[in-house]
Amino acid sequence: FESKRKTIQSFVRAYPDFPQPGILFRDICPILRDPAALNTVIDLFEEHVKKNHMKVDVVVGIDARGFLFGPLLAQRLGVGFVLVRKKGKLPGSCVSVAYDLEYGKAEAEVQEDAVAAGQKVLLIDDLLATGGTLFAAVELMKKLQAEVLGCLVIIELKDLNGSDKLKPHSVFSIIQY
Ligand code: PRP
Ligand code: HPA
Repeated sequence: FESKRKTIQSFVRAYPDFPQPGILFRDICPILRDPAALNTVIDLFEEHVKKNHMKVDVVVGIDARGFLFGPLLAQRLGVGFVLVRKKGKLPGSCVSVAYDLEYGKAEAEVQEDAVAAGQKVLLIDDLLATGGTLFAAVELMKKLQAEVLGCLVIIELKDLNGSDKLKPHSVFSIIQY
C-alpha cells in the first residue's frame, strides 16, 4: 500500500492561490495522464472495498472529478454508477440540496430514480476539503433512503476536518495533507 500511495502522491501537483488567493489547490490531472497511475488509484479503492467486505450496489460520483474515477471503480466492482451533479444539469425528477464549499456555494442534485430505497452506495470524489460536497451527497442519499457505506477520495485536506463533518460515515483517502 505504502509504495502505491507514494506513487500516487508523486502525481499530485500543488498550485498556490488557485482558484483564489489563500487556496493551495491540489491537482489530480497528472494522475489521469498516466494510465498506470490511474489504474493504481482504482486498485487502491477496490482493495479498500474488498478488505472491508463492503457489499456495494451502486457507486455514486460527485460532479465533476468524482466522474473521472467513479465509473472505473464501478466497472471493477461490477455495479452501476450514478451521478450527483451541480443543479440544473440532470433531466427528469431530481432531489436537490444546497451546500457550502471551501470557496463558494453550490447546489447538488441526483435523479430521483437513480438509487432505490435500501440500496448500499459508495460515494466517490477526487478530494475532501471541508466535506460540504460529500455531506450534500450523503443528504441526497438520505432523501432517496439509500444506505451510505462510506466515502472514497484520493486526497484528504486534514486541516479542514471534512471527515468529522461526515461522521458516522467512514472516509477512505489515499493521500492526506
Ligand atoms: C472540489 C472537489 C470536491 C470539493 C471538495 O470540487 O473536487 O468535489 O471541491 O470540497 P469540500 O470538501 O469543501 O466540499 P468543486 O466544487 O471545486 O467543483 P468541480 O469538481 O466542478 O471543479
Ligand atoms: N484541490 C482540488 N479541489 C479542491 C481543493 C483543492 O485543493 N480544495 C477544494 N476543492
